[in-house]
Amino acid sequence: MEASRSGVRISIVPPPWQRVLVTGAGGFVGSHLCEALTGLGVEVIGLEGFVPSYPRRYKEHNLERLLADRRFTLVQADLRTDDLAPHLDGVDVVINEAAFPGLPRSWSDVPSYVDCNLTGLSRLVDASRAAGVRRFVQASSSAVYGATACGDEQAPTRPISPYGVTELAAENLLLAHVHVHGFPAVILRYFSIYGPRQRPDMAYHTMIEQLRHDLPLHVFGDGRQSRSNTYIDDGVRGTLDAIDGGSIGEVYNLGGGVEMELLEAVELLAAALGVRPQVRHEPARIGDQRRTHADISKATEAFGFRPVVDPESGLRQQVNWHTTELAALAEPRLPVPA
Ligand SMILES: NC(=O)c1ccc[n+]([C@@H]2O[C@H](COP(=O)([O-])OP(=O)(O)OC[C@H]3O[C@@H](n4cnc5c(N)ncnc54)[C@H](O)[C@@H]3O)[C@@H](O)[C@H]2O)c1
Repeated sequence: MEASRSGVRISIVPPPWQRVLVTGAGGFVGSHLCEALTGLGVEVIGLEGFVPSYPRRYKEHNLERLLADRRFTLVQADLRTDDLAPHLDGVDVVINEAAFPGLPRSWSDVPSYVDCNLTGLSRLVDASRAAGVRRFVQASSSAVYGATACGDEQAPTRPISPYGVTELAAENLLLAHVHVHGFPAVILRYFSIYGPRQRPDMAYHTMIEQLRHDLPLHVFGDGRQSRSNTYIDDGVRGTLDAIDGGSIGEVYNLGGGVEMELLEAVELLAAALGVRPQVRHEPARIGDQRRTHADISKATEAFGFRPVVDPESGLRQQVNWHTTELAALAEPRLPVPA
């Protein structure tokens, strides 16, 4: 079977699991993941709490295609407070993509990060254990490593933002459940994901909007900070392959293959939009990472993870989405069940 948004052919053998709960289903990664799963014929329960991390209309837009798919059911619930048991009935696999994300702004709203990323996770794990799920995949982050995220999973974890701290604590909470209860958790550390539907607080999203509207482009710091960004299709494929290919209690880096400086990305984005960038340097933001470059050999060995989308074509896909779908997203327009 094949699933693709980028023109890249993704061949995945039909999965042995039939009912999957994806949390954060209205988010950037969660919505793509749900689409890939329904494309494989899997029944998907998409749980979404519409927490105010960014405007709800983006998340409603992300859900549009899914709401027209009979294999998808949207559950509007908050991991922090709602009864989760009814939504786990008959579920084989849980993929937790729900979190309050973003490094720099976590300094100004620590409670939201602690509540969503830890209390919410703890409640989801308890309900998943009670339901006897077969696998639990946790979306974690390269932010657990700290200012530089280079190397393999043994690199020191010294987060430099409350977001990174909650992500690391979430990993440790899961590992405690693995150790004490044999909970079947697999942890994935995503390295900055990009592509269509990227969150509006993320660098490429804001840069494309500034370029598209002929505004000065605000680059924090010297612009030499680098990322091994991961195209969304690669991230989704790695996540699906980790369900069965990842070992319980193990942590895997999922990153893109190419490390690129921010100013290089600016050039590619400007070229894709056919504009000349007016770069304005702003002070570096606290909690921002300087360099990320994932060593993905553990994921490659365990479940054949190999990112295939290069930055030029991946960024072009994201630019296309901004100039078509996002440009049309002026007002909320989708009725979502209350
Ligand atoms: N996008 C990236 O580059 C990236 C990088 C590293 C890690 N991650 C992690 O991957 C996951 C997905 O990231 P994303 O970029 O899609 O984020 P996102 O904000 O677009 O999606 C997360 C979704 O979870 C929902 N949510 C949050 N708290 C909830 C709660 N208490 N109850 C129910 N729903 C809740 C939000 O409303 C949102 O729609 C997150 O865990 C994030 O930390 C993402």
